Amino acid sequence: MYAVEAAVRFYARKRGADEEVWGLAGLLHDLDWEKHPDVHPMKGIEALREGGYPDEVIQAILAHRPEYTEVEPSSDLDRALFACDEISGLIHAACLMRPTGIDDIKPKSVVKKLKDKAFAAGVDREQVARGIELIGLERNEHIQNVIDGMREVGEVLGIRGEDIRKD
Ligand SMILES: [Fe+2]
Ligand SMILES: [Fe+2]
Repeated sequence: MYAVEAAVRFYARKRGADEEVWGLAGLLHDLDWEKHPDVHPMKGIEALREGGYPDEVIQAILAHRPEYTEVEPSSDLDRALFACDEISGLIHAACLMRPTGIDDIKPKSVVKKLKDKAFAAGVDREQVARGIELIGLERNEHIQNVIDGMREVGEVLGIRGEDIRKD
């Protein structure tokens, strides 16, 4: 969730959007995933509505699972959240395999892992492809942006070279 938040924040800055609002969508989108995977994200949405969270955050969280909620990504935030979600998981996993972690990882090595279907098999490759379409950038450019966003919280994610070499 921190990884997705960081990547979505990166796009908020790039697009001149409200970084705090966008960051919330990234941070909270999987709020109910562990406890209520079957109805995800509807339980989380309920709590966020009660909490008075902004409509655009709620909308983006609904739109990150359109096949279930039937809410398709439409706003810039919806697109950014969708595009950053799965790929950040793959980048996180890829960083853990490298002695230098996120310090110097390049889109090229992420793409290699993306094509290796056995690697981080839980990452839905179709969702990744759809996200790239939604964000409207070249695949490598998008991956670089997500890396840059995630690098800012590399320490929290434990994926800097010095964190990985310690383990
Ligand atoms: Fe989710
Ligand atoms: Fe997610």
